[in-house]
Amino acid sequence: MHRSQQPAGVPPPAVLAAVDSRLAGSPGHELFTLRLQRWWPDLHDGLAAVYGAQAEATAVRLIELAVAAYTARDPELARLDLIRSLEPDWFQQPDMMGYAAYADRFAGTLAGVAERVGYLSELGVTYLHLMPLLRPREGDSDGGYAVADYRDVRPDLGTMEDLSALARTLREAGISLVLDLVLNHVAREHDWARAARAGEAKYRGYFHTFADRTGPDAYERTLPEVFPDFAPGNFSWDDDLRGWVWTTFNSFQWDVNWANPDVFVEYADILFFLANAGVEVVRLDAIAFLWKRLGTDCQNQPEVHAITQALHALTRIVCPALLFKAEAIVGPADLVHYLGQGPHHGKVSDLAYHNSLMVQIWSMLAAGDARLAARALGNLPPAPSTTAWITYLRGHDDIGWAIDDADAAAVGLSGHAHRSFLSDYYAGRFPGSAARGLVFQSNPATGDRRISGTSASLAGIEAGDDRGVPRVLLGHALAFGWGGIPVIWSGDELGLLNDPDWAAEPGHENDNRWAHRPRLTEATLARRSDPGTVAGRLFTGLRALVQARARVPHLDASVSSEIAPLADPGVLPVLRRHPLGPLLGLYNVTDSWRPFPFSRLEELGIADAWDALSDTGVRRGEDGDLWLAPYQAMWIV
Ligand code: GLC
Repeated sequence: MHRSQQPAGVPPPAVLAAVDSRLAGSPGHELFTLRLQRWWPDLHDGLAAVYGAQAEATAVRLIELAVAAYTARDPELARLDLIRSLEPDWFQQPDMMGYAAYADRFAGTLAGVAERVGYLSELGVTYLHLMPLLRPREGDSDGGYAVADYRDVRPDLGTMEDLSALARTLREAGISLVLDLVLNHVAREHDWARAARAGEAKYRGYFHTFADRTGPDAYERTLPEVFPDFAPGNFSWDDDLRGWVWTTFNSFQWDVNWANPDVFVEYADILFFLANAGVEVVRLDAIAFLWKRLGTDCQNQPEVHAITQALHALTRIVCPALLFKAEAIVGPADLVHYLGQGPHHGKVSDLAYHNSLMVQIWSMLAAGDARLAARALGNLPPAPSTTAWITYLRGHDDIGWAIDDADAAAVGLSGHAHRSFLSDYYAGRFPGSAARGLVFQSNPATGDRRISGTSASLAGIEAGDDRGVPRVLLGHALAFGWGGIPVIWSGDELGLLNDPDWAAEPGHENDNRWAHRPRLTEATLARRSDPGTVAGRLFTGLRALVQARARVPHLDASVSSEIAPLADPGVLPVLRRHPLGPLLGLYNVTDSWRPFPFSRLEELGIADAWDALSDTGVRRGEDGDLWLAPYQAMWIV
């Protein structure tokens, strides 16, 4: 058949030949071919949108690597591929619960993590995100986000074999291993960057390099700064390179050039490698920044989604058990694109961080008011029904106040003034605030001030405020009741405070995000069993949330959350219209008793209202209202 006559959506002969020559006669031939046919249109369209005339040749190279990875896949993982293909909604179910930690700070080494599987299971964890542990550059590595070798493990944590062994141990305990794929940049010490610095043209082409300031200056006109304090600007001069190189983050993190198909092929192969090591979810770090376009902020460009779609299709062919999680800490309007909108609907990442929800939770707790959150969250388009949000109260990063000016204006606030209020509030500089956050990356040019701090320190526990524990629990109830995979940040389940010695480690002195990345000793963990301690109260409260959640099918991620009309400005009503019937989440974000009209439950068709969170009936007060205690959450079905 001539190419021009080839039916749309069918792999071209060169691609099929690459498969047949390697797999013909082998038992896996048919399955691979079926998957290729199924996912070819996504792969093709993604590659064509980015690489145009080079797309087909790139596809042939990719399929050769795909066949090799498919053939090498461990039979146990191949079986998991089958199981997950039979149950594609496995990650959307309400018994999913995540935990995120630095392996060393949580348990010393990878072997240490394996020893703490019992602890994780006690909490109800089914998903474990271990912070970057592939071999970073020496010295400051931005918490491992400057990777020197994607195929090796940080030596003090263990080896690649230890990683695979841990993945297996976790899988046996029903826990999926989540690892970062840092795909926007590599360390200046990565082989590609070394080769570029040694003058190899091929590898110079892996990066965005400039002989003089003309290019950088043109881009800088519209580029924001991620780390204005310790890494101002987006370009770094490199003596070896005799040029400027694009460095969005630190000067030692070199942005790779995704316009070069060789870069795509390299990362596809790294993905296969990680999947075959037993990783079940890859966190696509800083994915918003992958594509650069002059005259823009170089974030959220359409090519980012085309690239993700093509990578996703490849993993569906080789290792469909693997999920993608987008780390795009962007404004509300851009966020849902990472789960797929328009032509990319359901074809890009399976998971994405719900940064807006996190920001709005802290905003509600500071203001004691749910109106801005109702407006902002109510305006978000629904996520595709085949995807899930990652919902969380805290992570390893600072909190940036991603609040949209238009949302703020719609509820009579100034976006700028509210963001300032939140920074003041969480830095403990606002009258009456018991928060003990630290200001991160104050940017005088924009007035932006982000905040570091553990949830306990931000909620007032460090300052001894009695409202602290209920606030942390309410924040988690909101995250757990939104739908998706809730993730607890290591130490938050025990109410750990900011580490006063965060700056002591060399390389950390300018980066106060280390204040909220605490170490968990055996003694700390032991406090969970003492109901008289903050740790005991939080651990027990969070476990109860996990267990309640697992019992409520309405929280399946395939159903989106809507914001119901507010009755009291201090109570956020979150409605989930599940085929089994509605679930109404009510969240009192204030420190006083607040009402919600009982008649609203009847209007929604909720008879014999039951609070699935406390597992008790819901009673109408004498005044016709339902009353919520300070910081109380209810999941009414
Ligand atoms: C992501 C990480 C952050 C890191 C950055 C650069 O935003 O969460 O910790 O600094 O990427 O890799």
